[in-house]
Amino acid sequence: MWEAFSKKVIVITGGSGFLGTVLAHRIVSSTNAARVYVISRSDTQHVHRKWEERLALFGLEALAHDKITIIQGNTQLPNMGMAEEDVIHLQRTANFIIHAASSINLKKPLPALTDPVIRASLHVADFALGCANLIQLAFVSTAYVNAFLYWTPAAHKEPSSIEERIYPLSEGDPARPAITEWHEVEQHGSSWEYKAHAFPAAYTYAKHLTERLLLERFRLADVAHKLLIMRPSSIGPAQGYPCPGFSFAESAPVVAAAAALLLAPFQTVTIPSSLDHPDEESLCDEVPVDVVAERILAHLACGTAGIVHAVAGEAGQMCLGRFWAEVHACDRMPWQKRVRYVPEGTPEDALHPIARVYNGLGMARLAFADERTVQLERRLREAGLSTSSLFLQNRDQYHQLAGRAVAVEAGMRLVAHHSRLLTLMYWVFYARAGWSHFMTIHGSEEPSAGMIGDPSEKRYCFYV
Ligand SMILES: NC(=O)c1ccc[n+]([C@@H]2O[C@H](COP(=O)([O-])OP(=O)(O)OC[C@H]3O[C@@H](n4cnc5c(N)ncnc54)[C@H](OP(=O)(O)O)[C@@H]3O)[C@@H](O)[C@H]2O)c1
Repeated sequence: MWEAFSKKVIVITGGSGFLGTVLAHRIVSSTNAARVYVISRSDTQHVHRKWEERLALFGLEALAHDKITIIQGNTQLPNMGMAEEDVIHLQRTANFIIHAASSINLKKPLPALTDPVIRASLHVADFALGCANLIQLAFVSTAYVNAFLYWTPAAHKEPSSIEERIYPLSEGDPARPAITEWHEVEQHGSSWEYKAHAFPAAYTYAKHLTERLLLERFRLADVAHKLLIMRPSSIGPAQGYPCPGFSFAESAPVVAAAAALLLAPFQTVTIPSSLDHPDEESLCDEVPVDVVAERILAHLACGTAGIVHAVAGEAGQMCLGRFWAEVHACDRMPWQKRVRYVPEGTPEDALHPIARVYNGLGMARLAFADERTVQLERRLREAGLSTSSLFLQNRDQYHQLAGRAVAVEAGMRLVAHHSRLLTLMYWVFYARAGWSHFMTIHGSEEPSAGMIGDPSEKRYCFYV
């Protein structure tokens, strides 16, 4: 499979981010690519420093500098804001472009996302269409573009499979062109389609519109076969590559949520839900970052066009109750935290901050199909190629917080910056006690010497 990248030039936007780092790492380590260009808003030194720090946290060596060139740019500008000589060079040489740069802020309103998500992607698409030797552009979207389908109380009751296709937002045959919708968003900061559907976050609508704009643009240019749209669900720590647990805490929602909950100074965590049994019924699809990277590369290598899900799938989902159990087992606060479910529509200020950011926490009933990768895996297996990392391997092991303790503690350090109280709690209950080191070695199951606790509840505190 890696042969497809041999002597090829690969451009990655967002290469300094969580997914981009794993992609760059995988390409330089596993392929014979001619060169990887990473477009970043930061300069070369800053990107390499960031990679070094993030990889060192997991005991990994720095990325091979000699195969990677960082180009300072900005996807929000035409030609990604690059110097003219870089534009000319890349439009002559680039074979694959992976567009992973994006704001991933779930709280931003639509007007704040039009530039970093929609306009930026149009600039990248235009740049790609100007590349003389382009084989494919991969646009990284999100599986939650279709969350609007299930954001009504009735729909919460019946999870059903979301397919790898566009679910139209406007009625009429044909539906209103995406470009008309985009002009309305540009002019008014919103659109009829956005207002008519209950998107859980403006970010998911921005990605929905971007997908349709890119599909339209590539179709009009008669090169629809050169566009791959990859839709990850919630990206989580690596299951294996570059090492188990590898993660950017701020970009992995489940890690960030766990870090915030472990440090929460409240006894009650208030979450909205319209489900009868949210602990069992609310589902989270978390896909390891290396599975996402592997699916992008495998589908590019095989020339898949159109929409592909990068998800854990029905067999890999985690119910909310399991997540709470993991958090409780790792919690070092001397007081027991309790989850309280309140009706949907409860004012935001009554909710736990985590529920304000991830507002689907208590109600998501989404199940994503990934038939296109199932078929690809079958084809590759029949051709005698190893493809084990296209799927989540061991769901139970993967969902254990102990296996991602290093990332969760990095997340706690970020959360701790928000106030002196949180900083103090982090040092007293976690840092001083060597929490992530203990978790990594012992897991969350058994207490050991030097600790007090209640094994029946699996909650232990260190002596401090
Ligand atoms: N994380 C998830 O759970 C998740 C789930 C589904 C889909 N996705 C998608 O997967 C892709 C990669 O996400 P990720 O988790 O790797 O995110 P990330 O860690 O935040 O990295 C994204 C990168 O995009 C670049 N960027 C460009 N413009 C930006 C802007 N206006 N604001 C913030 N960053 C900007 C940044 O690189 P520079 O600073 O070097 O320019 C940043 O490192 C994105 O397209 C995202 O929408 C992510």
